[in-house]
Amino acid sequence: MQISPSILSADFANLESELNRIKNADWAHVDVMDNHFVPNLTLGLPVVEALLKVSPIPIDCHLMIEDPDRWAPGYAEAGATSVTFHIEAAKDPVRLARTIRAAGARSAFALKPGTPFAPYEDLLREVDMVLVMTVEPGFGGQSFMADQMPKVREVREAVRRHGGEIWIQVDGGVSAATIEQCADAGADVFVAGSAVYGAESAADAVDELRALVRSHRGH
Ligand code: DX5
Ligand code: ZN
Repeated sequence: MQISPSILSADFANLESELNRIKNADWAHVDVMDNHFVPNLTLGLPVVEALLKVSPIPIDCHLMIEDPDRWAPGYAEAGATSVTFHIEAAKDPVRLARTIRAAGARSAFALKPGTPFAPYEDLLREVDMVLVMTVEPGFGGQSFMADQMPKVREVREAVRRHGGEIWIQVDGGVSAATIEQCADAGADVFVAGSAVYGAESAADAVDELRALVRSHRGH
């Protein structure tokens, strides 16, 4: 079980210190948006390269961009430990996942809320994680979509059948109020932006989310 705070809700003028507020987390989740795949623009490779130099924890890149076939490998080559592309945008996902892995990163694909998982089950052999979005990608602070939990269960079932260690990440509206239902459905990597960076102590918020999943599992 891992917690990956999204720096989308951090102070963009002070990203190094914002990363240090979450050094007790497993990952730093970095949302790359190009204003084409989603109606928002954040940051790109030069900023990710700078973050990689100072981050106390591994970086988990979530690419909400058009043409990931062209751009995603660069993030793996730069040293991101995990690179996630959107399946809706990829032209040749098998090749792309292999290129990301060949560059030394973990590969993952993401599903928007309206995108079904079933057509992509065969892709499990090419990836290390599946991201099930629990909001429409593009912005932090949106409401959690509980109607995505059946999809998380479906992916968990498929991973069980497939075997091996493939993680299931949820992203969007994950908070103390919603994280247990995600864990219950089978998610094991939890992205939280506003729930962590909106808290007075981001580190305490990370610990609290972790404790909720642990105690839920103990039941
Ligand atoms: C949304 C991003 C998320 C976002 C989550 O498109 O992919 O990572 O930062 O923010 P919260 O946790 O506030 O919903
Ligand atoms: Zn994200």
